Amino acid sequence: MSSLATGAKFDNRSDRTVADALRRTSAAELPQAVLDLPPGEARDSLLAIHQMLGDMLPQRDLAIYEAGGGSTSFLPFDVLGRAHVTVVDIDPEQIKNNDYADVKILGDIETHRFAADSFDLITCYNVIEHLPDVEAALLGFCQALRKGGVILIGAPNPRSLSGVVTRFSPHWFHVWYYRHIRGDKKAGLPGEAPFPTFFHPLVSLPRLEAFAEANGLRVVLKRAYESPRYPEMRARKPALAAAVDDVAKMMNLFLPSAVDVRHGDYHVILQKV
Ligand SMILES: C[S@@+](CC[C@H](N)C(=O)[O-])C[C@H]1O[C@@H](n2cnc3c(N)ncnc32)[C@H](O)[C@@H]1O
Repeated sequence: MSSLATGAKFDNRSDRTVADALRRTSAAELPQAVLDLPPGEARDSLLAIHQMLGDMLPQRDLAIYEAGGGSTSFLPFDVLGRAHVTVVDIDPEQIKNNDYADVKILGDIETHRFAADSFDLITCYNVIEHLPDVEAALLGFCQALRKGGVILIGAPNPRSLSGVVTRFSPHWFHVWYYRHIRGDKKAGLPGEAPFPTFFHPLVSLPRLEAFAEANGLRVVLKRAYESPRYPEMRARKPALAAAVDDVAKMMNLFLPSAVDVRHGDYHVILQKV
């Protein structure tokens, strides 16, 4: 089991089996957001999540809400292909650039509300770290989700090396990192990442889990994994990556063996009971 995986459905070995099988899937069958991830734990975890969503979601037309969905979906084509997708995003450029949602709403996911029991799946991927009031957004999700429905959250782990650096560094540094280390020339322009971060306390996995249990949501999966920034950096800036890897190794030496400070991101799947 990975250090943060629940006993629910996954262990690392079956994850790897799923990921190996999905890796053989042709590129044309994978969404761009997956193809953009470097090979590594992040990609494997997302591919395993795809498999899991395929097993959990009903085999009929689906109603999906992508909260802070921006212009990119992380969902597999077989799910998107039978779904009515509603995206809510606060950034007009992101809404303009979204070419797959059926309904596009310029709004704030903390305050925007839908009728009760509207959705089978709500995704909030790389978004909660940007919210001043995560609780308000999550309460809205609980209300809008159907019984048995699923919430997929992907977020940075505030208790990791990259999480701590992101939390305690200014926004200009994030833009600099994206431009010069990741090589993203458009970073920081309107509608382009990185977006300002807040790191509300509920972004921490234990608090998110406690919130879920107190609000009628079962934690089906929680898994932290190595941030894709590491393999990206190893490919683009090997000397810097080696230094960062050494720092991470040193920090891990002083922490309990289950903790890996390289686990910079996590996936959580919640189900409404
Ligand atoms: C890092 S992007 C992720 C976009 C998309 N989910 C993805 O993974 O590609 C964060 C998104 O959250 C949106 N966002 C931030 N705060 C928001 C809020 N309060 N309400 C709605 N969207 C928000 C941003 O505009 C941006 O599109």
